Amino acid sequence: MDISVILLAAGKGTRMKSDTVKVLHPIAGRPMLAYSLDLAFELEPREILVVVGFQADRVRQAFAETDSRVIWVLQPEQKGTADAVRCALPHLTQSQGTVLIHYGDVPLLGKETLLALLEQHKRSASPLTFLTAHLDDPTGYGRIVRDGTGAFVRIVEEADATPEEKSLREVNTGITCVEIPFLREALDRLRDDNAQREFYLTDLAAYAVSRGLRVGSLVTEEAFRALGINTRKDLAEAERWVRRSICDRWMLAGVTLEDPRHTYIDASVTLEPDTRIGPNCHLRGRTRVGRGSVIDTGAVITDSTIGNEVVIRPYSVLQESEVHDQAVVGPMAHLRPGTVLEKGVRVGNFVEVKKSRLGERSKAAHLSYLGDSEIGKDVNVGCGTITCNYDGVAKHRTVIEDEAFIGSDTQLVAPVRIGRGAYIGSGSTITRDVPPESLAVSRARQKVIEGWAADKGKRKKKT
Ligand code: UD1
Ligand code: CA
Repeated sequence: MDISVILLAAGKGTRMKSDTVKVLHPIAGRPMLAYSLDLAFELEPREILVVVGFQADRVRQAFAETDSRVIWVLQPEQKGTADAVRCALPHLTQSQGTVLIHYGDVPLLGKETLLALLEQHKRSASPLTFLTAHLDDPTGYGRIVRDGTGAFVRIVEEADATPEEKSLREVNTGITCVEIPFLREALDRLRDDNAQREFYLTDLAAYAVSRGLRVGSLVTEEAFRALGINTRKDLAEAERWVRRSICDRWMLAGVTLEDPRHTYIDASVTLEPDTRIGPNCHLRGRTRVGRGSVIDTGAVITDSTIGNEVVIRPYSVLQESEVHDQAVVGPMAHLRPGTVLEKGVRVGNFVEVKKSRLGERSKAAHLSYLGDSEIGKDVNVGCGTITCNYDGVAKHRTVIEDEAFIGSDTQLVAPVRIGRGAYIGSGSTITRDVPPESLAVSRARQKVIEGWAADKGKRKKKT
């Protein structure tokens, strides 16, 4: 499209009461600014300028990948919305045409609304067009002042409004289309003689009128989408809205969500049809889930790849892990970064796995810790097996070859290798490699002294 976009994102966001700049607060796992940026990209403008100020470096850093497509502009001091636009002006490549001014803290705005505003701007013969909204409670917003004929006169900010003006319920959303020559001329003339000692972009309206020009406007019916995030309450509302639309999208794509109101899927997650997700599951980051899998109640899965027909049982936690087809995990299993479970693996309750690969069909069904290990196919890891991977200084590897059988309550003191098909007797502490097909047992032989308890009167008399 033959327009330029300026996104304002220099403000701190005081009402967030945060040490982090407002536009970096996440919504469905993505920084707030990402939503305004996406929308800007969708319009395919000539250029996108983002005005940053408070924590400018952090903001740029967060968008390092988009960097090449965005022109970052620094507003050294936050002296108002007009000052922010003034900082961007020298970076515009064109001296004619339309600029769309949008905010970095308005994540819910839809493309249709922007297109309608641009259309309205093109049709009207005004140098600038504001997107407005009618609110039952207009507190805090700039009010649109119109004359007896309904013509746009000016915008008055809350801090400068008379009681009568405060009762006006048409407000400025802040989203504005403006012609570049008019913008350059007007910005030079704005003053900061107002209650907040700021340069108000909204003063462009009165300036246009003073020059005998018309000011255009379009009223949006979706006020809540056009008005930005100011507080953490607004943030939570936006989060709910975005999550609901993500859930709707996946349900329409063939994913069953047992309770979509309590399903938390980040924007960057991908799912495939016939997968079923229980209540209170969190799917985060770059997580991908294949077809026909079940993610049961309360699973928290981050940056992981789950294959087809996998079952993740309740309350399992997965981070940066790979779970191949038909594997079963949990309940209450913990897969930490670097875990790979191959096809048909079973990892059961209270098993923690870290930086380890389990080969096809291997099982660790109960109460184990497997760290820094390479486990082959068809291995049985008995209940309570622990890889002792850390000697207080360095981490060491454990290798268990195919078809080995590790008896319950075994400690494998790494570095150690269990050969193919070997058996480890229950309760062993294994400190040396075990050759293939052999048996290793390292526990003390059991001693039985018959009648010992009775003789000594050790057994308490039952009363
Ligand atoms: C602004 C409008 C108000 C409108 C409201 C809608 C002005 C003077 N007022 O008020 O009419 O009803 O938005 O939400 O424009 N920003 C900068 N640099 C600055 C100041 C602000 O980049 O120096 C950015 C902020 O980061 C934010 C946006 O501009 O994204 C709006 O700033 P904010 O302080 O929220 O403006 P409001 O006072 O809410
Ligand atoms: Ca605001």
